[in-house]
Amino acid sequence: MANVINHPSRFLHLAISLIILIIFLIPLITFLNNNSLIFTIITKPYFSYYLTSFNNQSHQSHYPWRFSWRNTFINSLEFEGNVNYPSSSSSSNYSNDVSRAISPDFTKCGPVDLPPNAITSPYCCPTLATPFKFIDFKDYIINATYKYKNNSSIRVRRAAHLVDDEFIAKLEKGIAIMKSLPNDDPRNFIQQAKVHCAYCNGGYPQKHPFQDQKIDVHRSWLFFPFHRFYIYFFERILGTLIGDPSFALPYWNWDSIQGMQIPSYFTTPNSSLYHKLRHYKHMPPHLVDLNYDILSPKIRTQDQQISYNLAFMYKQMVLANTKELFMGSPYRLGDPAQPGPGSVELAPHNTIHDWLGAVDTPNHEDMGTFYTAARDPIFYAHHSNVDRLWELWTKLEGGRRDYRDDPNWLDSKFFFYDENLNLVRVKVSIIVKRPRKLRSKEEKEQEEEVLVIEVTELQSYENVKFDVHIDDDEDMLSDENHAEFVGTFVSLPHGNHGHKSNTRFMVGISKVLENLEAEEDDHIVVTLVPMIGKGDVTIGRINIQFMSK
Ligand code: C2O
Repeated sequence: MANVINHPSRFLHLAISLIILIIFLIPLITFLNNNSLIFTIITKPYFSYYLTSFNNQSHQSHYPWRFSWRNTFINSLEFEGNVNYPSSSSSSNYSNDVSRAISPDFTKCGPVDLPPNAITSPYCCPTLATPFKFIDFKDYIINATYKYKNNSSIRVRRAAHLVDDEFIAKLEKGIAIMKSLPNDDPRNFIQQAKVHCAYCNGGYPQKHPFQDQKIDVHRSWLFFPFHRFYIYFFERILGTLIGDPSFALPYWNWDSIQGMQIPSYFTTPNSSLYHKLRHYKHMPPHLVDLNYDILSPKIRTQDQQISYNLAFMYKQMVLANTKELFMGSPYRLGDPAQPGPGSVELAPHNTIHDWLGAVDTPNHEDMGTFYTAARDPIFYAHHSNVDRLWELWTKLEGGRRDYRDDPNWLDSKFFFYDENLNLVRVKVSIIVKRPRKLRSKEEKEQEEEVLVIEVTELQSYENVKFDVHIDDDEDMLSDENHAEFVGTFVSLPHGNHGHKSNTRFMVGISKVLENLEAEEDDHIVVTLVPMIGKGDVTIGRINIQFMSK
């Protein structure tokens, strides 16, 4: 009898304990031992978003990323952004605004600022020819394209983990040749690394009267364009040294699952791609932590690391949905350096630098600090991927706007040695594609080639005037006597306060291009020089149209 009475209560007791166990204990144990269950639920949306939007599309295994100089330096084939003169928050004087682009005084290169216990000397300056001379990028590229007419304009950068042995051999050979060149040859590997050192650690002063400010290409809107140009010339030098004009750098695809470790051929001793000063624990197959914390590195399973990395990429790429957030803050002539970095520059860019630098060097040299970073051959594959992310970002969700509408950004300038040992001055500029070139005499008689500039949000109560130049030298703009000066846009005050209108400026350029001997060119460089005016005027699309006579 007692048994019969006791039995149900004991059963109840057991059942309740079991329920408690199920409710609290199992999830707790799961969480403590392996929190990936909870983790996966939280990050799943990011995870799949990043995978579908970045890795299943255009640039993974099936489609190498197509890279062409035309869509890099800025503006590509057609100009579709807007150019604002000036931004309403800045100075009310047009000319001031336009001339505030950063440009190093290249002849005044000096010793750089080094971190304590640096392992190299502070002299990163290239040797310069006297008298100082350079060529402009547009002249350089016209010659370069002309020289290798058929195959040099498009270089296809491929993911570093997907290249074949033949490619690896070329890359190894190119780096080996660069390392073997005389020390003072600008194409020498260490000389190339010093270019980065000089631009990153304050080797160049800004132009007069701001010579007290040292230029730094990090932590601002210069980050993406500087490094794009830098690896662009590195790539061309390497290609020329191995006799392959279509050579393209590999990109270390650390944002894809298969690419999250150091490509193994960078770690083979005796290879020119091997580098001693790297974190010994991070050799393949160790996975990179895109959000690496150098002071307290995390221990994770491979699956966890992959999930974290993809979720992190989503945040840095997709959530950074304005130009300031992604590209960093504006940085103009006279400004102190490092106004603020963009998302990807901070991480994964900086974090991977940290992750790779050696543990027993004072400042995690070489990759872990900028003055030595480019001495590691993997630097260029790392930056090739950073460059690719810029390109991807501008196309996200129907297209995002970078700084192409800011004249100061467009006018920022840098100097690099090219594959022919010429010093080239590059700038981020407005390049307009010509839909047709080398037209016959009859064609020219029938149709005029017309430069069309959309002018929007013109404030009708203000005087507005800007001059238009083609293929001109920005530092010495031509006046009305010269062919480069093609025309001017002028608007007198009329209408009411607050009324805005849209119009367009047109100028025929067939004859101009003949005079400039530019009829063969694929593109023209357009410079707008605001002369007077307050308030906003927005320059819209700039293109070339053919209009019948
Ligand atoms: Cu100028 Cu990855 O740094």
